[in-house]
Amino acid sequence: MPLKIRKAKMKDVREIHKLLNHFAEKKELLARSLSELYENLQQFFVAEDTGHVVGCCSLSVTWDNLAEIKALAVAGDYQGRGIGRKLLQACLNDAQGLGVTRIFTLTMKDGFFQKLGFKNIAKHFLPHKIWTECVRCPYFPETCVEIAMTIDLAVSDRRMDSSDSGLPDAVMGPLEMMVPSEPKAGVQPKLSGRRR
Ligand SMILES: CC(C)(COP(=O)(O)OP(=O)(O)OC[C@H]1O[C@@H](n2cnc3c(N)ncnc32)[C@H](O)[C@@H]1OP(=O)(O)O)[C@@H](O)C(=O)NCCC(=O)NCCS
Repeated sequence: MPLKIRKAKMKDVREIHKLLNHFAEKKELLARSLSELYENLQQFFVAEDTGHVVGCCSLSVTWDNLAEIKALAVAGDYQGRGIGRKLLQACLNDAQGLGVTRIFTLTMKDGFFQKLGFKNIAKHFLPHKIWTECVRCPYFPETCVEIAMTIDLAVSDRRMDSSDSGLPDAVMGPLEMMVPSEPKAGVQPKLSGRRR
């Protein structure tokens, strides 16, 4: 049977766990617990070959019109065959289907993401809540090695074909803060109406 990219199922969780934690041991990815994988199973796509998971990637919606690519991994023997690209495109298709047009990732593999149209972005443009995961990173806090990258997808009803070699609908928009900044301490917001 040819290699298949598909949504993850319950039966895949243990193999996803093994794959991700293999790279976590090499400090290339964050370790994920089984419970975290079960909780986020709907976010995952997998690459399946002869009934086994050989790659995975997840799309996590984080804010209005903003989603993160996480947990991208392809098993060593399967790398360099376009599987990482297909998994990423499956997630980007999903994002388009949901109406999310801005995607970001934190990665040490910026060369891979660059090839697929992602651009570097200063980390402070990303929402504060993403740093909650950083405390689990072996490089936190002294030596953060991750590079923040983003891509904007054109608003389109046309879904991208995961067999495409590139990301034809991807366009970069002007960079702007992705979430409004929090009010400064001591500054009271002005209330326009009467409180009920
Ligand atoms: C990064 C990773 C997912 C790439 O998967 P892959 O299946 O080998 O990648 P692909 O074969 O789809 O590569 C697509 C393109 O990116 C290029 N590429 C792949 N890895 C690259 C890297 N580390 N740096 C630069 N370019 C890279 C390929 O050469 C290919 O380019 P081409 O189309 O011009 O030939 C895989 O190496 C991996 O699982 N690494 C360990 C875990 C990890 O670091 N994950 C990323 C966390 S954000």
